[in-house]
This record gives sequence, structure tokens and C-alpha cells, in this order.
Amino acid sequence: MQEPWWKTTVVYQVYPRSFQDSNGDGIGDLRGIIQRLDYLQTLGIGAIWLSPVYKSPNDDNGYDISDYQDIMDEFGTMSDMDELIGEAYKRNIRIVIDLVVNHTSDEHAWFIESRKGKDNPYRDYYIWRDPVDGEAPNDLRSIFSGSAWQYDEHSGQYYLHLFSKKQPDLNWENPKVHHEVWDMMNFWLEKGVGGFRMDVIDLIGKIPDEKVTGNGPKLHEYLQQMNKATFGRYDVMTVGETWGATPDIAKLYSDPKRQELSMVFQFEHISLDQQEGKDKWDLKPLSIPELKLVLSKWQTALGNEGWNSLFWNNHDLPRIVSRWGNDKEYRTQSAKMFAILLHMMKGTPYIYQGEEIGMTNCPITDINEVNDIESINMYHERLANGYSKEEIINSINAKGRDNARTPMQWDRSGQAGFSTATPWLHVNPNYPSINVADNLADPNSIFHCYRRLIELRKQNPIVVYGDYELVDDVPEQVFLYLRKHEDQVWAVAANIGAERMLVQLPAFGKSADVIVSNYSRAEVDFSNLELQPYEAFAVKLI
Ligand code: GLC
Ligand code: CA
Repeated sequence: MQEPWWKTTVVYQVYPRSFQDSNGDGIGDLRGIIQRLDYLQTLGIGAIWLSPVYKSPNDDNGYDISDYQDIMDEFGTMSDMDELIGEAYKRNIRIVIDLVVNHTSDEHAWFIESRKGKDNPYRDYYIWRDPVDGEAPNDLRSIFSGSAWQYDEHSGQYYLHLFSKKQPDLNWENPKVHHEVWDMMNFWLEKGVGGFRMDVIDLIGKIPDEKVTGNGPKLHEYLQQMNKATFGRYDVMTVGETWGATPDIAKLYSDPKRQELSMVFQFEHISLDQQEGKDKWDLKPLSIPELKLVLSKWQTALGNEGWNSLFWNNHDLPRIVSRWGNDKEYRTQSAKMFAILLHMMKGTPYIYQGEEIGMTNCPITDINEVNDIESINMYHERLANGYSKEEIINSINAKGRDNARTPMQWDRSGQAGFSTATPWLHVNPNYPSINVADNLADPNSIFHCYRRLIELRKQNPIVVYGDYELVDDVPEQVFLYLRKHEDQVWAVAANIGAERMLVQLPAFGKSADVIVSNYSRAEVDFSNLELQPYEAFAVKLI
């Protein structure tokens, strides 16, 4: 059996609003992405996950869709989109689009109808409930703060919104909703998209009356039906965003026998610096032993019944180099260390725009500088609950989504080469020293490390298919693992910190076959190995 293309590919996420502005209005757009395809081809990626480009009033920057089959005015036209798909394809890059079907915008035609009254044929496209004792039906909370129920004066009922009140949840109990979504998916498949990244897909099986949101009982039935009715007939990839997934849950989605999705994003590793049972703003220090355990568990647990996605960053997360690395004196080393550590693992790696040049978080001092609805709502909620302004700004600087959404830093010209106008969100002031142009010119840059890692995956089946094994016998701060395939063994080592670390594993011997390294290391002697701050490498043992 031939293995699917998405097992050897690396995916690059584009957040269109911040990638490249082509017409000087301060907002990234489709023609801007087309202009930068050659750059992405140089990097070597095989697919772009494109965050939403559909018509949207932008309450949540495109994740609130008012027309799934049309393009947001600021981003361009449907013919720009067709051209993007075609031009990318010429460069062996597939366009994977964002499928946001847990909810629509409240400005979507279905909701405009639905809200007209209880007898409207679209009423049941959404989740409407009567008040209970004059109040919201229950205490379900919105992920963007406050109640998940919004009262509608006109009909005297509440509708459900797990995100903002401008993002009403679709009612997946209604088969008509399935058919509408399938038709829309087939429209895009016929255009030649390379697949779907499925936004909060684990929520579509919800039973709001029982306060069940994630992993509802019919979730997998819905996905199997969707697979049959749409992408199952195409050679595409699908990746579900599933916040609560355990390995057992991930197998339900991605076991090929079950015909659901290619893979899911799991968030267990990325939630390790969050206090148990609290929300994302309540931080605790990262424990490296925990990180090793969690990532290793995912590396081995899926076996042949699933496939991993590998990522540190996306448009919802702070930049890894600022979060768990060191974005000051060891920025380059720590950015490459995280790249090597992840890209030598088993699964499909995802790179978020700017990660490949080591872009950093962008701290703010005042809520006026924030665009993201999640941070703004949290700010007001926590202020009302007695938190200090300073505390809240600190948590926004640590975890806020705008950290990853500042414009792409292309060169040293004004606005980092992103736009000729003032951008919709401030450019990180560090762009004169962190930008694509300088990275391309320097053979030792972070960019060239990523490029090498992508190439290694294409050329070496061991990277794609090799078994994974964690090596325990090392200092806590050192992440050391083996990959084994046929008669080959590779070792991958990463020092996740600024202190030098000593590793003594004489049984591993000595090797001069260094495959990739962030300290131009020529040889590794495991009997007495001193790892430099944030050093990482992969080396051939056998
Ligand atoms: C997903 C998206 C996020 C969005 C939310 C609601 O988590 O990644 O950006 O705000 O869903 O659509
Ligand atoms: Ca523009």
C-alpha cells in the first residue's frame, strides 16, 4: 500500500491578515500570499494551512464566517483564491483550508433567518432554548468569557455561543446542517484544495442541555458521515483541532480503519505550563520531565492506529522561543533547538509563519494595543473580579494570541516589508534584527535549519516511519531520544536550558555522522558529552 503524501510533508500555517499586504491597506491578503509562494517553496513545505479567508465581520478575525463560499473583501476575490490554489500547486504546495463549522457568524444568512422567529425554516440550524426561571438555560461558559447563552429579545429565547456572541453554534443534531456543510466542503474540494484543518471539531457533538461540549456521543458518527460524503473520495489531508484529546481519543479520529481524519492536533504538551483545572491565563513553570513524558507518550501510543501532528506554535499560542526558549541571548540557539527536537519526531510537523525565522512574542503595556477578542474579554472580566491591571497585562504578554499575530517580518524596510501602510496590528519593533531577508542571506540562520530539517524528512524514511524511544539516563533538562528504522539508529539530543549539561552514555559510543546541529558540532562522543546552552543535534549511531 502506498503511504499518503501528508506523512512526509511539512505544513506551514499562514495567518493571512498578518502575512503580506499587497495593496497598501495594512491588511495581509491573498495576492500577498501568492507573491511569497517562492519563498515557501525555498523552505520546502508541501502544504499551507490557510487560516480562514471567507466573508466575515471579523469579530474573531475570520473564525466568524458569514459566507463560506465567498472571500473576505480585505483579502481579495474568489479568482485570487483560485489563483492561489493553482500557483501553489505548481510549486507542489497544497492549500489546506480552515473548516469552521462548530459555529458561524451571527451575520451568516442562516443565522439572520434563524433569528427571525421560532417558525423560521432555519430556526433549528442553531441551538435555541427557553429561559429557565427567567435566566439562561444553564451555566455553560463561553471560551471567550461570560455566559455561553445570549438572550434574544425578539423571540424570548437564548442561543448558544461557545465563543463570542457573534459566533452562534450550529446545531449538528439537525441533519440539514450536515448537508449544507457537506455541499460547501464539496465546493472547495472541486476547486482543488488539499484538505481541511477542522476548527474545534471536537465540539460538534455537544449536548448543551447536559453541559457536554467536547467529545459528545455522536461526534465520530458525524465525522464518518462527513468523510463519506466529502473528502473521503479525494487525496487530501484532514487535521482536527481537538483540545481535550488523549491518545485513545486521537485513535478514534485517526485510525485509518475508521475513515475519519488523517490526524488531530492534541494540546497536552502545550498545556503543561497551565495550572491544573484553571484556565490558560493561570501559569505555572514548565516541567521538562513532564514535557518529555507527554511527548514520548504521544510518539509511541498511536502505533499504527493513528498519526501525530507535531507543533509548538499556531495563531492561538504565544511564540515558543519566548515561551519555553530564550528570546534574548540564546534566541537563535533555542529556536533551532525546538525545531530539531520536534522535526526529528514521528508525525507531520507544522510551522507557524515567522517560527522559521525565530520571531518572538511582542509585549504590550496597555489593553488599547490589543486586538484579540479573547484577551480583551478576559481583561474586562478579570478587572471586574478584582485582578490588577498589571497582573492581567502580564498574562496577556505571556499567553495572549496577538503575540503570534503581529505582521510577518520580511526585511528591514518600514513595517518590516509587510505593508506600506500602518498595519492592522503593530509590527514587532525587533524586525531590523529578525527578518526573512537576513535569514535567507545567512547560511547559519534559523531559516536554513528549518529548511534542512524539511529536506531530511523527505530524504530519510527513518524520520517519517522510524520507531521512537526515549532515553532516560540523562539529566532532567536533556531530552534524548532514538529513532530506529530497518538497520539504522539515530539519536536526537536537546538541552532545554541555558546551563551546560553533561551526558555520559558510553554504550552509545562515538559518531562523526552528525546530521543536523545548532552548534556546528562535527562529532559526538557519548562517553563524555557536554551540551552547550540550548544545544541540539541529530546523529547517526548505526
Ligand atoms: C479555534 C481557532 C481560534 C478561534 C476558535 C473559534 O480554536 O484556532 O482562533 O478563535 O477556534 O473559532
Ligand atoms: Ca491588503
